[in-house]
Amino acid sequence: MTVSRLRLTVLGSAAGGGFPQWNCRCPVCTLAWDGDPRVRRRTQSSIAVTADGERWALVNCAPEVLAQIQTVPALHPRGGRRHTPVASVLLTNADIDHVAGLLSLREGQPFRLLATPAVHAVLSANSAFDVLAEGTVERHAVELGTSFELVAGVTATIFPVPGKIALYLEAREQAEKGRLATDIEGEQTIGVEFKAGGKRVLYIPGCAMLTEALAARLSGADAVLFDGTLWRDDEMIRAGLSEKTGRRMGHMSMSGSDGSMAALADIDIGRRIYVHINNTNPVLIDGSHERVAANRAGWEIAEDGMEIAL
Ligand code: MLT
Ligand code: MN
Ligand code: ZN
Repeated sequence: MTVSRLRLTVLGSAAGGGFPQWNCRCPVCTLAWDGDPRVRRRTQSSIAVTADGERWALVNCAPEVLAQIQTVPALHPRGGRRHTPVASVLLTNADIDHVAGLLSLREGQPFRLLATPAVHAVLSANSAFDVLAEGTVERHAVELGTSFELVAGVTATIFPVPGKIALYLEAREQAEKGRLATDIEGEQTIGVEFKAGGKRVLYIPGCAMLTEALAARLSGADAVLFDGTLWRDDEMIRAGLSEKTGRRMGHMSMSGSDGSMAALADIDIGRRIYVHINNTNPVLIDGSHERVAANRAGWEIAEDGMEIAL
């Protein structure tokens, strides 16, 4: 008999750029380049989900997907000349850190590719993704608010989360519309709820702000994997790396009165885990003031390979 038990593995816990980022010498990346034992490398944002331990779904597909699969034995091919436990891939947005790995899943291997119609449209507009050939990779459009079987025994429900379009689509959007919304609720950024074996987990790697609807959805969850991009909204500006605030990037920060630690503090949640952590974020450093504060607030900081079994 197959036991249905919701299990998640964090394949990549970093935000876009990974950790350390290839061209970055911010204080946190510098620790990593120097081999400081207080920090560990992280690949870009993706998780794997299963109910039977045999068939898995990837949720998001990072540029490092090959290395991630190589590192996690449950995702290795077994049996026959061609095989993969990966039965489906679901995308939460069209960001590079979440879609670029699809280009590495091109060896004629059938799987289901699930995303909202808007995210499918972004992929369809880029002919590089045609390597996932029609007839081999089934592209399924999933509508907001609907529930479907993501992979054997795991029911997923997708819902809109305040956010924006992918970075590489911004210039065209600005030129066409003269402005850029960073907290639209639509098909461009979604969260996912997983249910199996009587447990309920939410995965929200990007979130511009906590709405009442979202708070209601989080309430009572056994675990929540949430946007941990930045510690503070002006972190990139203070580090002299960018002119952009977290808000401008479509991410609410962890700290502060309008941060996610405060916003989620009174919501009943079993485990709260930060994922999609940017390389500038000092929570990446073991023992840092920020790490201690996040842990005290009940938050775990995801690492690559972290397993969550419910
Ligand atoms: C984000 O989550 O803000 C994006 O991944 C940024 C990026 O594309 O680097
Ligand atoms: Mn991202
Ligand atoms: Zn950095």
